This record gives sequence, structure tokens and C-alpha cells, in this order.
Amino acid sequence: MRIAVAGATGTVGRQVARVAAERGHEVVPLSRSTGQDAVTSVGLVAALRGVEAVVDVLNTPSVLKQPAAAFFTATTRNLLAAEQRAGVPHHVVLSIVGIDGVDAGYYAGKLAQERLVTASAVPFSLLRATQFHEFADRFLRQARRGRFALVPAGLLRPVAASEVAERLVGAVEAGPGGRLADLTGPRDEQLTSLVERLAAAEGDPVRPVELRLPGAFWRAMRSGVLRGGPDADRGVITFDEWLAARTTI
Ligand SMILES: NC(=O)c1ccc[n+]([C@@H]2O[C@H](COP(=O)([O-])OP(=O)(O)OC[C@H]3O[C@@H](n4cnc5c(N)ncnc54)[C@H](OP(=O)(O)O)[C@@H]3O)[C@@H](O)[C@H]2O)c1
Repeated sequence: MRIAVAGATGTVGRQVARVAAERGHEVVPLSRSTGQDAVTSVGLVAALRGVEAVVDVLNTPSVLKQPAAAFFTATTRNLLAAEQRAGVPHHVVLSIVGIDGVDAGYYAGKLAQERLVTASAVPFSLLRATQFHEFADRFLRQARRGRFALVPAGLLRPVAASEVAERLVGAVEAGPGGRLADLTGPRDEQLTSLVERLAAAEGDPVRPVELRLPGAFWRAMRSGVLRGGPDADRGVITFDEWLAARTTI
């Protein structure tokens, strides 16, 4: 199949492109670095000619409500409109486990994205996954203050991006399936512990300091609601296994 991966240069997008190519599909990468901008629509329709499914794994670095909502609303609208013009019969989107009712911060953007996809005339598959193992990386790099890393409290069940990618490519192959079973990782983890183990694996002496941040977004993160329910499918690759083999999984 000819599959467009919107966000093919990103953390999970790279894995989607790899898995799809390994399974014999033709991958059309879409990102600003390959000449398409999903916020402005530049290059989208031309890139989607002959495409049988679009996997949307675009992302914005902002965790604030307004910019995240603006990004996911614009990119989702533009992708769906381009798919309708190009005759693409399947839109596959990745969202986040446990965000119902958390209409705050970044998750407000993801909920807006889900609403647009489920209301669209384009047949869709919607997969929700938990945080990737790579999630800890952001706090190690961006939240450093000298010898310390300021890490918000979080109770998560992180999953390997490679397993999420396999599920997304499987969804493409299966055809439009609507809302799919959630995908979580194998174990509960505290975010500070993930950052600590990541730093240790890199020989970085930084010490994580746990913060209790205000607001619905951070409350959701530490409440455990983002780990998913008993009906979720579970990946098998643990954080420590991912850490030990980071370049391959
Ligand atoms: N990270 C997690 O833990 C996690 C967990 C569950 C679900 N998700 C979801 O998975 C998706 C992907 O997350 P990620 O962490 O893999 O993202 P990422 O690493 O930040 O990658 C983002 C991708 O989007 C592209 N992009 C950004 N702005 C664009 C634009 N205006 N036009 C075209 N392409 C653009 C980037 O490429 P260019 O910069 O070249 O444009 C890049 O390929 C997100 O929707 C996120 O909500 C993430």
C-alpha cells in the first residue's frame, strides 16, 4: 500500500515509516523538512495523490492549551480536507490514553483533534497510546537546573514507540476500524524514576527533584488516569529493556 506518514521525522513517525517499509509498503513522508506544512496546507494535496491511508503522528512542542488546540485543529482540518480532495479512503490518528475529561493544556488539543476526526467524512482509525519511553527524555533535557532536573509527579504506564508503530501500521492494513483498543506499556512507572534511570544510563549525575504542579493537566498526570483501564492492550517492552537497546526499539 501507499501510506503517507504525517510526522515521519518524529519519534513515533520514524518508527511508523520503518515498520511500514519493512512490511513492503511504500511510504510517503510528510513534514516541514520534506516540504509539506500541515498548519498552512502547503504541499499536502500533491503529496497525497494515490495514497491509500494517512497516518497522522504530527506534534507540537507546546503543552499549553491555546497553542496546542490551534495546532491540532489546523493540522487535522487541513489533512482531512486534503485527503478528501485527493480521494484518500483512510485516516489513522494517534491520540493519548486517559484524556477524557482532561480538557486542559496539551490534552485539550488532542481532544479537539479526536472530535474532528470522529466527525469527519473520511473513514478513520483512532488509536490511543500511553506515553512513549522517550517521554522521560524531555524532562531530562529541558527541566535541568544545574545539578537538578525538575520533574513533575507522574504515574504512567509507558510503551515502546516501536510497538505503537506496529499497531498503527496494522490499523492501516486492517482498514478503517473507528476507535481501537487502547495500547499501554507493560508496567506502572513514576516519571521521576524514569528520568533517574535514563540519566544513570547516560552517566549523567543530574538528580531529579519531583514537583507537584497545579492545574488539571498535571493533576491528570500524577493521578494515574493516563495508565489506561483493564481493557487496554499491553505492549511487552519495558522501559529498562528499551533503555538497554535504545537505538533499535
Ligand atoms: N510522545 C508521547 O509520549 C506520545 C504518547 C502518545 C501519543 N502521542 C502522540 O503521538 C504523536 C507524535 O508524537 P511524537 O512525540 O512522535 O512527535 P515528535 O517527535 O515531536 O514529531 C513531530 C513530527 O511532526 C512534524 N511536524 C511538526 N509540525 C509540522 C507541520 N506544521 N507540518 C508538517 N509536519 C510537522 C515534525 O516534523 P518537522 O519538524 O520536520 O515538520 C515531526 O515529524 C502526537 O500526536 C502525540 O500526541 C505521543
